[in-house]
Amino acid sequence: MKHVVLVGMMGVGKTTIGRLVAQRLHRPFVDIDALIEATEGQPISSIFATKGEPYFRQREMETIRKVMNDPASVVSIGGGAYVNPVIRYLLKDPAVTFYLQANVETLLQRVGDGSTRPLLTQNGGNPAERLRTILQEREPVYILANYLIETDSLTPDQAAEMIAGYRSILE
Ligand code: S3P
Repeated sequence: MKHVVLVGMMGVGKTTIGRLVAQRLHRPFVDIDALIEATEGQPISSIFATKGEPYFRQREMETIRKVMNDPASVVSIGGGAYVNPVIRYLLKDPAVTFYLQANVETLLQRVGDGSTRPLLTQNGGNPAERLRTILQEREPVYILANYLIETDSLTPDQAAEMIAGYRSILE
């Protein structure tokens, strides 16, 4: 059985939709960021502030590597993880990847003030501009995922239903 891995920008709804997919497929749900926070004992924003982004990226890669060796689950990975070619390689065989796509306006509504996302606020950044820039940089990589789900006009339930609809290829 393959893991279902949800890829995409901060705020697109990977965690919310992932939980709903896991319920439908009767599988565990794993949120990589939450797992890192639990093992580090601090939120992502303070990991970035105290230990730096490279340290976080290393932990992210190790955590994904470990989860890929566990029984098949539904996995939400942080928005930057899929950009790392080593992580894409780690996902290649054991996972089916879904890029949850949304435009900047939708993402902005969903991230709120961005305070839990250091990449949106660092250096006095304006979250709207940061989102636009990051999306532009990452979209060419995100579309390497196996499937694309356009979420702008979908509720989390509808998006989850669509992903769960692929159940026959996830066996
Ligand atoms: C990041 C996204 C965050 C988290 C970290 C970096 C990114 O996860 O991993 O703040 O580089 O896009 P979400 O996509 O769950 O917000």
